[in-house]
Amino acid sequence: MSTNTLIKIASLIIMVVSFIAYIAGASAFPIASENLLPWSVWFIVSVVVNIILWHSVIKLLTFSLAVIWFYAFVAGLVPESSTAVNLTELDWSDPDAVAEQGALVFNGKGQCSACHTVDTSAPKGRCPDLTDIGVHAANRQPGMDAKTYLIESLYEPAKYLVPGYGKIMPDVWKAPIALSKLEIEAVIAYLQSQGGEIDPTPYDEPIDRADAGTVAAALPPLLTGDAALGKKVFVAAACHSCHVVKGIESPVVGETTQDFEVVTAPELSEIAAFNDMRYLEESILKPGAQIVSGYGAVTVQAKGATFQGTLVSQDTEKIVVRTKTADGQEEEHTILLSELDDEPIEDLANLKANGYFTLTLTPADADAPRTGEIVEETDDTVTLKIGEETQTLSKADADVKSQMTVITFDGDTIVGEYVSGTMDDDEIILIVDGSEEVFDTFDLEEATYARALGKKLLVTSPMPENFPHLFSVSDMSHLLAFLSTLTGETATAETESEEAGEAAAE
Ligand code: HEC
Ligand code: HEC
Repeated sequence: MSTNTLIKIASLIIMVVSFIAYIAGASAFPIASENLLPWSVWFIVSVVVNIILWHSVIKLLTFSLAVIWFYAFVAGLVPESSTAVNLTELDWSDPDAVAEQGALVFNGKGQCSACHTVDTSAPKGRCPDLTDIGVHAANRQPGMDAKTYLIESLYEPAKYLVPGYGKIMPDVWKAPIALSKLEIEAVIAYLQSQGGEIDPTPYDEPIDRADAGTVAAALPPLLTGDAALGKKVFVAAACHSCHVVKGIESPVVGETTQDFEVVTAPELSEIAAFNDMRYLEESILKPGAQIVSGYGAVTVQAKGATFQGTLVSQDTEKIVVRTKTADGQEEEHTILLSELDDEPIEDLANLKANGYFTLTLTPADADAPRTGEIVEETDDTVTLKIGEETQTLSKADADVKSQMTVITFDGDTIVGEYVSGTMDDDEIILIVDGSEEVFDTFDLEEATYARALGKKLLVTSPMPENFPHLFSVSDMSHLLAFLSTLTGETATAETESEEAGEAAAE
């Protein structure tokens, strides 16, 4: 056989094999090599060789294969989510099939998987993990069933923020994601299938699509800075002593001259991939405005002790706090909300925003205090879930009575209208049966203030707050320009090549 015939036959074999492999979706070839060549490249090369070398019958065969391949190639270009885009009806007789369609929306058009994981072993991020959300959804808001909660989560994500997370989730029914009602229904079925029961009951959308407009709010240009200078600002300010960024080596503990305590902080290598620049700007100027879940600092008074550490998680029943012992060992403490020490509330405004979960107050027309979970709050009223019932109480209501219960060492319990003093003072003054009485705190075992009591959890950011004072306006815009390059892959490549360049220059 001549070399020419060998090449002809080899090329024919490569063409047929690569065609079949491409259609079957086999991984690239040669498999063990670093530089994989996609089957489509092998195919195109062999088609060209065959058309040049072979006689007409094989040319014709080659041409037909090429046409079929071309159609398959074009079909492959259309994103996978297109299968879900055209949802025209959902077949509720098979809820599992609806959930499968929902999974396509979740991973495709809905872009949910860009933020959310469905895997408990995934690292804690800025967005809640949705493992078993089908079960958890029923416990998120007192008195709200799972489906209603999921509907609210998708249509009005900012309404009930998951504790510890910021307003990051977009309105997925608006542009640019713009899910249709059917797509959202399918996603809800998918979410419910995560550990829960799929509830096929139809619902009305809590929004008005006609009002929404279709143009996503445009962000005014923020980025006039120079990313390379921004990287210098980042290093000079020692951001990298807490934050990992691929391509920037973290300083050894104690090596920077900064006066803050180094803490575990979120990795920033991909921070610009899912965040707008406004959020990044705010993260630096007002670190406490939105605290990344799992990184906030808390001081909790409970069971007569003080726990100071990182808030790991929080729900309507308990909180988990991670503390460090003197020798650097980490310990996790699970504390029931009922075990938190009561704190008097001086001002009945913005209770939820200020971190209160529960409220104990004595309305003017009642004798006994009411205690319940705060469900909803307006300027004038607060709705409590007391046992299985909800009750709306007026805040103004002829001044909610300020009462204090004192217990003396003799075991006497006296309840009176509160005038002044606490156990830290020398005396407490109450009005009991219309006349003022002064109690020496040395005679008292306990005094509980009962105008309103709540359980408060104040979460702060461990990130230093003085950066705004340290940075000039141009530092800040350089820094933001640098952060905007941190989108994962490209950022790594860029910083690496930059580093290589710097090394070469030295
Ligand atoms: C840009 C990031 C982002 C995208 C995209 C996103 N989410 Fe979210 N989502 C969040 C954040 C942050 C929260 C927590 C704050 C809140 O409650 O809004 C959240 C909360 C939720 C919750 C409530 C979770 C809980 O534990 O109570 C659900 C359910 C949810 N998202 C579903 C979805 C679905 C479905 C999609 C896609 C259609 C989606 N999200 C897209 C960021 C995102
Ligand atoms: C003392 C440690 C520390 C230093 C120094 C520090 N940070 Fe942070 N940073 C944190 C912690 C902890 C969080 C997470 C809690 C929060 O959201 O505030 C955070 C959050 C952030 C976030 C939001 C991350 C996310 O995933 O949403 C950004 C952006 C950020 N920091 C940027 C910076 C920049 C830029 C600097 C330097 C100018 C800096 N940080 C310096 C500890 C630090």
